[in-house]
Amino acid sequence: MVTKTSKPYSIIVSSQKGGVGKTTISVNLATAIRQHGYKTLLIDADYSNPCVGLHLGMGSANAGLRAVIAGKAKLIDVVAVHNPTGLHVLVNEMTSRNFNPSISQQQILRKELVKSGYDFVIIDMPPGAENIEGVKEFCDENSRSAFLVLTPEMAACASAIRMAQICEKHHINHSMLANKVRNRRYELRMDEIEEAIGEGLIGVIPDDENVPISIAQHIPVVLLNGSCDFSRSIKNISRKVCSRVGYEPGGDMGIGMRMRSGGGLFGWIRWLLFGER
Ligand SMILES: Nc1ncnc2c1ncn2[C@@H]1O[C@H](COP(=O)(O)OP(=O)(O)O)[C@@H](O)[C@H]1O
Ligand SMILES: [Mg+2]
Repeated sequence: MVTKTSKPYSIIVSSQKGGVGKTTISVNLATAIRQHGYKTLLIDADYSNPCVGLHLGMGSANAGLRAVIAGKAKLIDVVAVHNPTGLHVLVNEMTSRNFNPSISQQQILRKELVKSGYDFVIIDMPPGAENIEGVKEFCDENSRSAFLVLTPEMAACASAIRMAQICEKHHINHSMLANKVRNRRYELRMDEIEEAIGEGLIGVIPDDENVPISIAQHIPVVLLNGSCDFSRSIKNISRKVCSRVGYEPGGDMGIGMRMRSGGGLFGWIRWLLFGER
């Protein structure tokens, strides 16, 4: 449980390696949190391969994250709304230059995030540990967490451990989650991963054919097939996120409904059954 969080709460979805599922998880976690009724912004911070818009079936935009942090555009003017869910999306302009906004540039966005009244901000990161410094000031120290994505293999665990050390250096609270889990004999088991990383996993996400199917259709998996293994796992993580921030995770309450603590016995039972490790 995080103490004294202020709005918004940001989740920085990160890994040193590419292709582990950061974008897929960001898009679906943001959609699942939005389905609980919270005002959620999904930021594409990947400057080298921005593809959040592709996952959501949204067209390209002239201005996005870079323009806002450079003070050239207002957040409210460049945010796009994903109509099927009401999720807000801040795209990124593709560039070969590195992504290293200064603290004062990050604080420009931070002020706008507060002004816009977001509950959650999900940040899809490019691969690489050092990039995390460029987004950490988007939210208050007590209101941010990095989700470090790994796959069930030794090299991915080793790089997640290195990322965790970098997070500690920057005072960024972190959790780890395993993706593309197939439970094959050659994979690391979850208990072996937890032993290697020295902490519990916040989520275990299966390798699921619905993921490539959903990307081909430009529809998040949690919308396309809300009951598949991947979606159930993402929804479970979304409930943990809501609980961590002190919000009542509302399950699939539908867009626009919103419930804080004290939301009834059923909500609590659901939380106890599915929301706790
Ligand atoms: N849980 C999963 N099951 C099946 N395929 C997945 C899963 N997660 C990601 N993928 C696939 O892996 C590829 C890389 O995912 P992506 O989210 O783009 O990774 P990253 O953002 O870390 O580079 C994509 O083609 C995606 O379809
Ligand atoms: Mg990506």
